[in-house]
Amino acid sequence: MYIVLEGIDGAGKSTQIKLLKEWLEDNGLSVETIVEPTDSDVGKLIRKILTRSDATSDNVQKTLGLLFAADRLLLMNKIEKLESENVVVISDRSFYSSLSYQSPQDWIKELNKFAKIPDMVLLLDLDVKKSVERTDGIDEFENEEFLTGVKANYLNLAKSNDNFVIIDANNGPNKVSSDIKKAVAPLFDICKDCIL
Ligand code: TYD
Repeated sequence: MYIVLEGIDGAGKSTQIKLLKEWLEDNGLSVETIVEPTDSDVGKLIRKILTRSDATSDNVQKTLGLLFAADRLLLMNKIEKLESENVVVISDRSFYSSLSYQSPQDWIKELNKFAKIPDMVLLLDLDVKKSVERTDGIDEFENEEFLTGVKANYLNLAKSNDNFVIIDANNGPNKVSSDIKKAVAPLFDICKDCIL
């Protein structure tokens, strides 16, 4: 299984990935987590570019689209290997981030055509104002106008892809965690009604 957490900056993905991993392990599963952008050379370059003052400009966005697709492609062998070993892979972001943050969408889709489609995408849906409050503003992406567009793109993807589950990330972390567990439980035949 390849499960992905998506959402705008500050949605709480890393906290929720930790809680989900622990819970799946308590249920006897082997779990590995991954994060995009990765710590590959391409991933390091991406993180540098994200701090540029013109990071949201059209040309830099396209550059990032190319780099994110390359960084992701380098990750695919690892995901395939883990899956073949029956390890559950939980990822912080996927090509759906590129489809939501970068454009034009058709071109981004083409660039990512070799990326693996996740079995489940948990979209942590957070109000943009909360996102801006929660983030440090270091990356150019962490501004209200840009993130409003990203959030709308995510919600459109959720409408047209049946692997998406929308989770209300405006709730406290415990409620978000139990909503995530309830969504994931059926994938592993774990009792859904036993989750508090
Ligand atoms: P990071 O500081 O790790 O943010 P977060 O913890 O919210 O994931 O930086 C990742 C940034 O890169 C984040 O703003 C989202 C963006 N991003 C894209 O624009 N496209 C992508 O394909 C991916 C994977 C991330």
